[in-house]
Amino acid sequence: MINYLDVPEVFHQNSPIVTAVGYEETGEKLIKLATSSVDRTDLGDADILDIGCGVRFTMSIINKRIPIKSYTGIDVNKSMIEYLKTEVELYDDRFSFAHWNAHNEMYNPNGRKLTKKNVLPVDGAFDVIWLFSVFTHLDPSDSLIILKLLRQRIRTGGKLFFTAFIDNDLDGFEDRVEGSPLLHAYFGKSYMQSLITSAGWKIDLFHEADPSNYIQHYIVCSPN
Ligand SMILES: C[S@@+](CC[C@H](N)C(=O)[O-])C[C@H]1O[C@@H](n2cnc3c(N)ncnc32)[C@H](O)[C@@H]1O
Repeated sequence: MINYLDVPEVFHQNSPIVTAVGYEETGEKLIKLATSSVDRTDLGDADILDIGCGVRFTMSIINKRIPIKSYTGIDVNKSMIEYLKTEVELYDDRFSFAHWNAHNEMYNPNGRKLTKKNVLPVDGAFDVIWLFSVFTHLDPSDSLIILKLLRQRIRTGGKLFFTAFIDNDLDGFEDRVEGSPLLHAYFGKSYMQSLITSAGWKIDLFHEADPSNYIQHYIVCSPN
């Protein structure tokens, strides 16, 4: 088991606010929020899947000694995943990582466009699936495909937690920053609700943004 992880700056992908407050500080806060939101007191018996994992939650789990059963991270950033495999997976069997060459206009413009035929690059089923600041940079087509793929990997009694930019008054979807594709991918509330339910999920919680927790709208779902 690893006791401390100091990730090179080049692999951090968080906003300046997160950097200023601290990676593990915000990471720990968000993990606590996700844990209580999925009706758990801790994650000691949970197999967790994190899509768009970045490095922050791996750092937080290790450096803040947050109990987990296992943590599987997937990301489109190849060099970051290679770093996590070499520096974490190899030495700590609670962790595993997989690269996914999925197209994302902001993060992986040369990747392969997701289609209904895609599968996730990991096996198995999970108790908790989370995505922090990922739907905030996804278009509706990828969002629906990913919601459907995740639905196949949730255990009975498991929960999905994710954040998104939601505009209650927006009808549909809006990519808000001209010249920076998917920097601020906004979904109308009812549009996001329809994507979630058509992917086979039931919405347990649709929470407003909470700046005190450094979080956008967050949504908790169960398999329907
Ligand atoms: C803003 S960062 C958030 C990182 C991490 N979740 C956190 O909150 O610290 C967004 C991450 O999502 C990844 N990403 C974007 N599109 C993705 C996709 N389709 N599949 C997997 N990862 C994706 C990016 O490479 C990046 O690491």
